[in-house]
Amino acid sequence: MFIPAVKELAEKAASRLREASKVIVVSHIDADGLSSAGIASLALDHIGMEHEVKFAKKLDEAYADELRASKPELVWFTDLGSGSTDILQDLECIISDHHKPVAMSGSNTNKKPKTLFDFDDVPDSDFIQVNPHFVGRDGSNDISGAGAAYLVAKALDPELRKLAHLAIVGAVGDMQDRELGRLQGTNREILADAENFGVIETIEDVNLFGRETRPVWKMLQYASDLQINGITDDYRGSMDFFMELGINLKKGENWRAWVHMNKSEKRLIIRALADLVSPEEFIGEVYILPMEKPGTELHEAKEFSTLLNSCGRYDAAVIGLDVCKGDRKEALDLAYGLRKGHRKQLVDSIKIMQEIGITQMEFIQFVHVGDMIRDTIVGTVAGMLFGSGKIDDRKPIFALAMADDGIKVSGRGTRQLIDAGLDLSEIMRQAVEKFHGAGGGHNIAAGATVPPEKVNEFLELANEIVGHQLSSS
Ligand code: C5P
Ligand code: C5P
Ligand code: ZN
Repeated sequence: MFIPAVKELAEKAASRLREASKVIVVSHIDADGLSSAGIASLALDHIGMEHEVKFAKKLDEAYADELRASKPELVWFTDLGSGSTDILQDLECIISDHHKPVAMSGSNTNKKPKTLFDFDDVPDSDFIQVNPHFVGRDGSNDISGAGAAYLVAKALDPELRKLAHLAIVGAVGDMQDRELGRLQGTNREILADAENFGVIETIEDVNLFGRETRPVWKMLQYASDLQINGITDDYRGSMDFFMELGINLKKGENWRAWVHMNKSEKRLIIRALADLVSPEEFIGEVYILPMEKPGTELHEAKEFSTLLNSCGRYDAAVIGLDVCKGDRKEALDLAYGLRKGHRKQLVDSIKIMQEIGITQMEFIQFVHVGDMIRDTIVGTVAGMLFGSGKIDDRKPIFALAMADDGIKVSGRGTRQLIDAGLDLSEIMRQAVEKFHGAGGGHNIAAGATVPPEKVNEFLELANEIVGHQLSSS
């Protein structure tokens, strides 16, 4: 059962949408943001509502002013908005989001609702917000922006359950399946809708990235969450692993991916891998989109989300949106081209970050990449390096990169650190209060833009707050 209070909020949002004559959808540029926009736009098409979709790297005062100047009748913010309600005055809007709301950050951080239905600590707001934090759930793993948009779509018309696969793509894109090897919380309810509607099939299988499209040896070589001596990051070692098992790596001219292996080959490989690392590290739930072609990026949620990131993070969000909305021709071809570039950027950027090296402070660690890595992927790169075991993960990491309007900071933590009291979104909120700019996010991953001359002060502040967070819980 979906949490009744959230369902109620989604129904309120749907009613407000139905009253409008034109809607502007504003969404974030990552995979979750694009999936959210896809759901919103398809839902509005479905009810015959005129609308326009815009994408924002971040929602700051300049962006809010620009929106206000265009005098929109109604704005539907997806995968952003809750962290910025303090700058949205005079905008008619509804928000479906999973970022930590403004009212719960800053000095109010510990004032989370005490029970699922305790709204006492949530100040009256002019905005209808569909957000898991308002019912005491953690937006980093309970539901994604796309999931929140899906709840609104479903309230518009139950037939829109046919969009549930996009909510799963958004959740996986935000790594909400990472902690347990499967989705949890409200995401599971959405998964049940998706399965019942036949738009997702859940299987338990090898869940390494690239199971549909990468040669198996590449899938293993680049598996960023695994660390197997002589195989991870070692192309010869990875190929030898399969050859020693007698696996044919090619069929004709083509490399074989995981999905091309037959049952006995899969069994053999899983058994051999289990001798090297614990099965939890490479087996988990995999979300298949059965209506898409097997062996393509679109056939599995994680690869689908990476395809979307390859568009949105390179100023081509509209291409990803078109793919979400069903374009399997021009937009998909363009997306495939962008994906090649994204893969190369990630591989190069990981090397760059390692070469620059991580600087240690007492409670945090940081790396400043200057203009060597795009501000839109510096967080992803830091997250990959952080999760790879190549750098110490006992302290949160802050990666800094130059952006058009300041220095972009991306923070990443671990579940252990969260359990010990870490909340990165709180650090970003305090930084924004002190230095101005924009920032927010989740306890485990958050970002901000700070003025270049304030970088050292930011790092000192982050170090101090983290020290405090980890000692006071
Ligand atoms: O903007 P948005 O909420 O969609 O992004 C969530 C971010 O949190 C993503 O960059 C995702 O990689 C990160 N995340 C993480 N570890 C988790 C869950 C989310 O780094 N366990
Ligand atoms: O950009 P990055 O991947 O580091 O973002 C991590 C999380 O922080 C995402 O959920 C993102 O939406 C959020 N964020 C934010 N405001 C910013 C920058 C990032 O809410 N200015
Ligand atoms: Zn999101």
